[in-house]
Amino acid sequence: MTRRVYLDHNASTPVHPEVIEAMLPYFGERFGNPSSIHGFGREAREGLETARERIANFLGVAKDEIVFTSGGTESDNLGVRGVAIEHHAVLRTCETLGGQGFAVTYVPVDEYGTVDPDDVRRAIRPDTILITIMHANSEVGTIEPVEEIGRVAREHGVPFHVDAVQTFGKIPIDVNASGINLLSFSSHKIYGPKGVAGLYIRKGTRMAAIQHGGEHERRRRAGTENVAGIAGFGKAVEIRERDMAAEAIRVTALRDRLSEGIGARVPDVRVNGHPTRRLPGTASLCFRHVESESIVLGLDLKGIGVSAGSACTSGNVEPSYVLVAMGVPLDWAMGAVRCSLGRGTLAEDIDYVIDSVEPLVRKLRAVSPVGTA
Ligand SMILES: Cc1ncc(COP(=O)(O)O)c(C=O)c1O
Repeated sequence: MTRRVYLDHNASTPVHPEVIEAMLPYFGERFGNPSSIHGFGREAREGLETARERIANFLGVAKDEIVFTSGGTESDNLGVRGVAIEHHAVLRTCETLGGQGFAVTYVPVDEYGTVDPDDVRRAIRPDTILITIMHANSEVGTIEPVEEIGRVAREHGVPFHVDAVQTFGKIPIDVNASGINLLSFSSHKIYGPKGVAGLYIRKGTRMAAIQHGGEHERRRRAGTENVAGIAGFGKAVEIRERDMAAEAIRVTALRDRLSEGIGARVPDVRVNGHPTRRLPGTASLCFRHVESESIVLGLDLKGIGVSAGSACTSGNVEPSYVLVAMGVPLDWAMGAVRCSLGRGTLAEDIDYVIDSVEPLVRKLRAVSPVGTA
């Protein structure tokens, strides 16, 4: 049987067996609707609130500052649109609102994918209503200086949203020191189930709901909560709290073993992202004069799951906008591959990947019109 090695943890992670166990009662005897006031409902509510408390403690925030959503995507939408709508409604009358868009300023990144807090400062205008940033980029793993950017936001009294989907449970986050008003985080990146996530909303942050219906989640997000998923999310956080620090060290060593191993055996390879301020398990590599997809498919035949660092739109292969923004030349950017490691990754997996990459890239370069083999 072909060996199987999963190096795509930034896309999703396998649900931890203890998480599955924690979810099961909420599919069975604790099936009630957490909004119901009878015993069945109260049992479900207890599962919900235990998870909320655990996550709030992990973040060092109050329980009622956590709202559960259907995913990191919804948390981002609720955070960004919720603030935008609220401010818009306050700043202008509804009559003048009609169809007008918001002005969005994009701040550049340097060659490592890092945002300069001074650029954020310069981009702020008197009518700026929100600053939003990813805590770490999901493709190259660069960790952004959120504390400094938070300071800039605070100085100007602008609400600050951070997408921590790739960092929550992997590296420490201090929402208070960073002056964060809104923080998105998701379950399926940390060995919890898919379709469940959270948004931290600092007390006093003015925002509107974007989904209307019942009075769930203190009227900030209507819809019956995914109780089993949330119970699992709570368990996943508990496990991360226990394992995070040791795992970060272990996975960083494996990540470096991978990029150094490939670098030693394959010519014309570069590692993207910040050399040190980077997610523990993320190695984004560019193989010059090779197409990402060919590597991904070639490794797939070896039972290895990695992801292409480029997006395929309508048949045209485009380089990743992240790498382009970082100034990576096209002949390198087209050969980007993201390997993201996790709790199941072993040293022998890494060695198997290195052993598989070398002949594959050699073969691909031999048939490449611009190959450097
Ligand atoms: C930085 C970031 N934000 C948001 C999301 C979306 O999260 P979800 O899959 O839970 O909707 C992802 C998923 O890859 C991500 O990497």
